[in-house]
This record gives sequence, structure tokens and C-alpha cells, in this order.
Amino acid sequence: MFKLCLVLILLIAIDANPVQSGSLSCSGNISASDVDRVHFALNLEFTEAEFFLKGATGKGLDAFNATLAKGGPPPVGAKKANLDPITKRIIEEFGYQEIGHLRAITDMTGGIPRPLINLTRENFAVFMDRAVGRRSNPRFDPYANSLNYLLASYYIPYVGHTGYVGAIPYLVYFNIKRLVAGLLGVESGQDAVIRTLLYERQNETVEEYGGVTVAELTNEISNLRNELGMCGIKDEGLCVPLWLGAENRTTSNILSADPYSLSYDRTAQEILRIMYGTGDEHRPGGFWPCGANGRIARMFLDEGCYDRDCIVCSDDN
Ligand SMILES: *[C@@H]1O[C@H](CO)[C@@H](O)[C@H](O)[C@H]1NC(C)=O
Ligand SMILES: *[C@@H]1O[C@H](CO)[C@@H](O)[C@H](O)[C@H]1NC(C)=O
Ligand SMILES: *[C@@H]1O[C@H](CO)[C@@H](O)[C@H](O)[C@H]1NC(C)=O
Ligand SMILES: *[C@@H]1O[C@H](CO)[C@@H](O)[C@H](O)[C@H]1NC(C)=O
Ligand SMILES: *[C@@H]1O[C@H](CO)[C@@H](O)[C@H](O)[C@H]1NC(C)=O
Repeated sequence: MFKLCLVLILLIAIDANPVQSGSLSCSGNISASDVDRVHFALNLEFTEAEFFLKGATGKGLDAFNATLAKGGPPPVGAKKANLDPITKRIIEEFGYQEIGHLRAITDMTGGIPRPLINLTRENFAVFMDRAVGRRSNPRFDPYANSLNYLLASYYIPYVGHTGYVGAIPYLVYFNIKRLVAGLLGVESGQDAVIRTLLYERQNETVEEYGGVTVAELTNEISNLRNELGMCGIKDEGLCVPLWLGAENRTTSNILSADPYSLSYDRTAQEILRIMYGTGDEHRPGGFWPCGANGRIARMFLDEGCYDRDCIVCSDDN
């Protein structure tokens, strides 16, 4: 463990690039209603629902409740993953939980159309390759086995979780606060389970990236998200240098949290930068190639909507 963590300290020292903290784009104080803020979260809930349901059962959201998508296009590239029985049961439960979340938000606020979601093997491989800094060989496939699926899952619920932590202080109404508190609880539980399952396998190497261990890969994914988010360190892997561990007393980091062991928060802009993979809330791509939906995401898109993106995407949204 000690040796492993030394390597990781070096990686973090090289990769972590906390910039632009305190700039306006790191502030969640944008002009948005409570409903706008939960609608923004729907983008992540749709993404998780599709990835978990399809991965565990082979069926996407439309097979369970098509009205929740509100006419938005089905995702591209999601498929049933080759999961061991326990992982399958866990992911299947997460998938149903996401349907519940979509229903809760839709029943209270009316909901928004599902955005186009890119869950292709290639999209995950592009993100993973960027995190590690080299091309996977064979190509990284999130659907190939339980370990790859969990590594891919490491990318998404955590972002939703930080988004809820970031949104709650700006909420006004009791009913919406109660809703988001409930969403946050389950979302953070999902993240914790995924991290625990990966933690148990921290020393295994990921075949597609040669000798890279699971712990190293989680660090690299977290570093990538920190770089894309552009608001400093808000994301930590499973094994960290002491100064990032709880009370500076441990290098084990099964939960990612700040120096007070409180959850990190992220703004809508940071989440868009990370999920688009462009580091720019105005430039769609990555998981949401035609942009996220709802007033908040569209506000940023409209500000900087490039002709190319608008022509390609406007018909679908
Ligand atoms: C991982 O390897 C380290 C160092 O060899 C060891 O101390 C640790 O117990 C291992 N962890 C697991 C979960 O196997
Ligand atoms: C948010 O911005 C408004 C308008 O600029 C300001 O009045 C308010 O105090 C800010 N709230 C916080 C929590 O920063
Ligand atoms: C789909 O979800 C909506 C919103 O919660 C609900 O009204 C409807 O009954 C659900 N349909 C099915 C088939 O479960
Ligand atoms: C999904 O992502 C992959 C990898 O970037 C890309 O090749 C593909 O065109 C994307 N699909 C859509 C529909 O955007
Ligand atoms: C741990 O170290 C970091 C960085 O040196 C510092 O900011 C933080 O306050 C320390 N935490 C505790 C509990 O001493």
C-alpha cells in the first residue's frame, strides 16, 4: 500500500491542475429557479438510468416507462454488460432506483425531454484513454466484464452526487429541498457502493492499460474530472497522499471528501464541462453530444452555440 501510494502522490503532483478557483464559473449562484436546478439534474439521472438498466437487464428506460423520456431520443451504444451475478443484482437495483428518481422529479416538476446520450463503448474508451494518457489496447470496453463496468460507473453517479451537494444551498422551497435531499442520499450511496467494490480490487491491473492498477486508474479518472471541471480538487481516487486523506491520517480514500470530510460540491457549469468532455459548458460533446436539456444547460449553449453544433443537433432537441 505504501509503495502504491508513493506512485500515486507523484501522479497527483503531476496531473492535478487546480486552476481558476474563485472565478465566476466556479460559483453556483446563477440565475435559476429551484425547478431549473432539478431539471438540470435530470440529465444525469437519465444517463445513469440508461447505463444501469441497459447494463444489467439489456433493456433501456423506454422498456420500463417510456413516458418519462418526454419524447427525447433513446441513448446510443448502451448494451447489456457481461456482469457477475452480484454486480448484476446491484446495478439492476441502481437502475430501478434511477427510474424512481426520474418519476419523483417528473411528478413534482413536469420533467424535461431526455437528451441524446452517448453510451457507446467508444465514448467510454475516449474518456478512459484521456484519463490514462494513452490509447487502450485492446480497446477499453465498459460492457466486457464487471471490473470495466464498475470503472465506467465510477465516472457518473459521483458527478450527480457533487451536483446535488452544490445545488442544495441555492434551493428556496421546502418540497424541492426535501426531494433533492432524498436524491442526494441514494446517489451518494450508489457512489459509495461502486467505490467499495473497486476498492476491494484496487491492486488488480486493468488489461487494456497494461500494468495500470484499479487504484491508479481511479486516480487518473478523478484527475481528468478535476481538469475538465476547472475549479480545483473536488474529486479524489481510491488511494491518495496523506494530505488528502481523512484528518491527514490515512491514504485509504474509499469516499472522496474535503479536508473536513464533507462532500465536494460542483456547479452546473463544472458538470457540463465534465460530461461534455470539452472543459467548456458552451461546447457539447462526450456523453451529451447535442447538449444537455433544461433551461440551465440551454442557457450556456445558446450563449456560445457554434453553428456546426446547432445544425447537427437542433432537430433532435
Ligand atoms: C494492495 O497491495 C498493497 C501493497 O502490496 C497491500 O498492502 C494491500 O493490502 C492490498 N490491498 C488489497 C485490497 O488487496
Ligand atoms: C447571489 O447573487 C445575488 C445577486 O448578485 C446576490 O444578491 C446574493 O447575495 C448571492 N448569493 C450568494 C449565496 O452568494
Ligand atoms: C411512468 O411514470 C409516470 C410518472 O411517475 C407515472 O405517472 C406512470 O404511471 C408510469 N408508468 C408506468 C408504466 O409505470
Ligand atoms: C459517441 O462517441 C464516439 C466517441 O467519441 C463517437 O465516435 C460517436 O460519433 C459518438 N456518437 C454520437 C451519436 O455522438
Ligand atoms: C491536512 O493537510 C492539508 C494540506 O496540508 C490541510 O489543508 C488540512 O487542513 C490538513 N487537515 C487536518 C485535519 O489537519
